[in-house]
Amino acid sequence: MASSPDSSKSTKVGRYNSYVRRVNSTKLPNTSSIIFFLFVLLILVSLYALSASSFNGGSWNNQIRLSAAPRRPNGMSVLVTGAAGFIGSHCSLALKKRGDGVLGLDNFNSYYDPSLKRARQDLLSKHRILIVEGDLNDASLLATLFHVVSFSHVLHLAAQAGVRYAMQNPLSYVSSNIAGFVNLLEASKNAHPQPSIVWASSSSVYGLNTLNPFSELHPTDHPASLYAATKKAGEAIAHSYNHIYGLSLTGLRFFTVYGPWGRPDMAYFFFTKSILQGKPIHVYQTLDGNEVARDFTYIDDIVKGCLGALDTAEKSTGTSAQKRGPAQLRLYNLGNTSPVPVGKLVSILETLLKVKAKKHVIKMPPNGDVPFTHANVSFAARDFGYKPTTDLTTGLTKFVHWYAAYYGPRLGLEKDKHSDLV
Ligand SMILES: NC(=O)c1ccc[n+]([C@@H]2O[C@H](COP(=O)([O-])OP(=O)(O)OC[C@H]3O[C@@H](n4cnc5c(N)ncnc54)[C@H](O)[C@@H]3O)[C@@H](O)[C@H]2O)c1
Repeated sequence: MASSPDSSKSTKVGRYNSYVRRVNSTKLPNTSSIIFFLFVLLILVSLYALSASSFNGGSWNNQIRLSAAPRRPNGMSVLVTGAAGFIGSHCSLALKKRGDGVLGLDNFNSYYDPSLKRARQDLLSKHRILIVEGDLNDASLLATLFHVVSFSHVLHLAAQAGVRYAMQNPLSYVSSNIAGFVNLLEASKNAHPQPSIVWASSSSVYGLNTLNPFSELHPTDHPASLYAATKKAGEAIAHSYNHIYGLSLTGLRFFTVYGPWGRPDMAYFFFTKSILQGKPIHVYQTLDGNEVARDFTYIDDIVKGCLGALDTAEKSTGTSAQKRGPAQLRLYNLGNTSPVPVGKLVSILETLLKVKAKKHVIKMPPNGDVPFTHANVSFAARDFGYKPTTDLTTGLTKFVHWYAAYYGPRLGLEKDKHSDLV
């Protein structure tokens, strides 16, 4: 007898197939439902991200507006670039103290110990000054800041400072002091209303000038360093934006600024550190055997000069990149008017620190420093009553007190990367 097909086997297979069909249709989602599920998930995630970012944006804008809002009648609303820096932090505090609104901008770069910049930021935030972390070259950030706040003034102090470091990292000077400055001027000229701008040039523009004391009327065609050349370029760039767009621009040529919260790359600062550590210091002599001298200017005098320049700055005449008439264009020296040989600076520090320095007198290397600076400040005196009042001993006493309080137990532990006189 021919055997019939195994009906029990085919029944089993049939049952198995229907089980698989049931399982497929009921328990496991098919491809289209997975795609649908992922699609819904994507929408939910995007909605959440959107609401979170608009919330942050909202509170960020509010913080910015709050920081920049003046608290006195007719007060200024000032964007301070380089606010985490030495001069920027002092000026921000002074402006806020008298009731002006201040918003800081700084990229917190590591040219010198960024923890010092963070400590200045903490100090400013205690006085309700916000520093936005960002770069001058970030055009969309600048456009946003000018969109959120109608700044009446910009105090532009952000720059790559230091003379000798330019031999190691020349492009950082071009990036911050030239491209960054142009970017800021672009944002300012597009703003409505256009702000009045006060910005930091430098005594270094006098370069190899031999006429003394240095006057704004002297030529500045022989910069001795790339740093000086970028500041000189800044003065020419300021002229062009004033001419084309009616921006009110005031350049300030600072002379060797020192004081509490100062810059660790400057001589008075790293001399203090080395003297306390018992390390030798190099004191420069000119090639013809004279002492190098600087017109050391105390920070409080510089702050008064910056505020005086802001107070007397006329409004820009342009609006939204259209010039409506000639605008103010100024340049001032801000110095102490009494140069002091660097050897004398060292002996004041020795007295204050009660430690004898291990001095090595050497010829000044040809790395961008100049032998002598001396400011004539008669124009600043005439136009906004600038009158420096702090002599070097008084100013260094305040610096040493701050240094001891700030570094305290850490005294002398950090290493300087760069060093500078100006
Ligand atoms: N201290 C002086 O003796 C002296 C002398 C002459 C001129 N100046 C000028 O005064 C200004 C302030 O000097 P300082 O001594 O306070 O220097 P600083 O280095 O302490 O301050 C400058 C600040 O600008 C910031 N910065 C640099 N590039 C930036 C960029 N691209 N975007 C955003 N932030 C940036 C830095 O992080 C720093 O906090 C500078 O323009 C400097 O060239 C200073």
